[in-house]
Amino acid sequence: EKGGFDTYMLKEIYEQPQALTNTLIGRLHDDTGEVNLDINLDPASFKRISIIACGTAFYAGLVGEYLIEQLARIPVEVDVASEYRYRSPLVSENTLAIVISQSGETIDTLEALREAKKQGAKTLGVINAKGSSMTREVDDVLYIHAGPEIGVASTKAYTAMVSGMLMLALWLGRARGTLNEELGRELLQGARELPRLVEECLQPERVENIQRIAQKYHQARDYLFLGRGVNSPTAFEGALKLKEISYIHAEAYAAGEMKHGPIALIDEHLPVVVIATESFLLEKTISNIQEVKARSGKVIAVVSDGDTDAARHADDVIYVPRAAEMVSPVVNAVAMQLLAYFTATALNRDVDKPRNLAKSVTVE
Ligand code: M6R
Repeated sequence: EKGGFDTYMLKEIYEQPQALTNTLIGRLHDDTGEVNLDINLDPASFKRISIIACGTAFYAGLVGEYLIEQLARIPVEVDVASEYRYRSPLVSENTLAIVISQSGETIDTLEALREAKKQGAKTLGVINAKGSSMTREVDDVLYIHAGPEIGVASTKAYTAMVSGMLMLALWLGRARGTLNEELGRELLQGARELPRLVEECLQPERVENIQRIAQKYHQARDYLFLGRGVNSPTAFEGALKLKEISYIHAEAYAAGEMKHGPIALIDEHLPVVVIATESFLLEKTISNIQEVKARSGKVIAVVSDGDTDAARHADDVIYVPRAAEMVSPVVNAVAMQLLAYFTATALNRDVDKPRNLAKSVTVE
């Protein structure tokens, strides 16, 4: 049932090229540069978007916020569902509430959805599980088609959710006229390449390199993760994965926040994972790497193939295939998953059933 893999989690990590193919298939139209999502809501009618989710799905929401604001120029806010449901959110009939969930059963997300509906929002679900409770209560669904996910730590659902958010941003941007055809086509092409790029991430020499790095630092007591812009959620997701399955304490920050506090944590015992892939802000991230080095921290840099600038200053380098910045969170997430996975296995943890966690949180 695990298809020759030791764990469901590893199986699901390796299923990602196929899962992403299923997420994207039939939805991208090269000729027009448009996406067809079969959503019946009117994209021109929204003045504001609220994204609501928990855990990993919340981080997919943060990527979505960045992409939708960039490409569709609509104000977006992202909330953890347990906060949204109790904070008397400001909602009007021009609000689109997007709930993101693998299971479609998470109680806080379901209740937040009900609250948004009660206040008059239009609702859309970005959901994996067919026929789940949320799919029955939203106005419309964008299924991510990742297939069943059994490992408690979400992997393929996350990359599929992020790909779903990318398609939503393209859909909104094209329909609202804020995204020109040329950039639309370029990003569509970027989305189309995702299954292949993720396949490349899973090449044996790349996986072995991550395993070696994970083993080198598996006795660390704490980890810090840093990323910028559309990849700051990648840092949060990396820290969450590591905490869940290895029980190593991990913090994540937007890289620019480092100076405002977390820099005090840095010493020679602290591995710092820095997402330093291609970006218009890469120079700034390289400065962060230098600041960590100047305080004797150990830098594990996630770097695009062929880059030497960021790699030069790092103790260890995880190379990932080059990808356009807006699609790179999908590619970079795979490196985060593998780092967490091999750290946990080096510590003999039960990765499929980590302590205290349930696959689906259906009680508050
Ligand atoms: O089923 P959902 O996507 O609504 O679940 C949300 C979270 O409970 C879930 O992502 C959780 O954080 C995972 N264990 C993350 O790996």
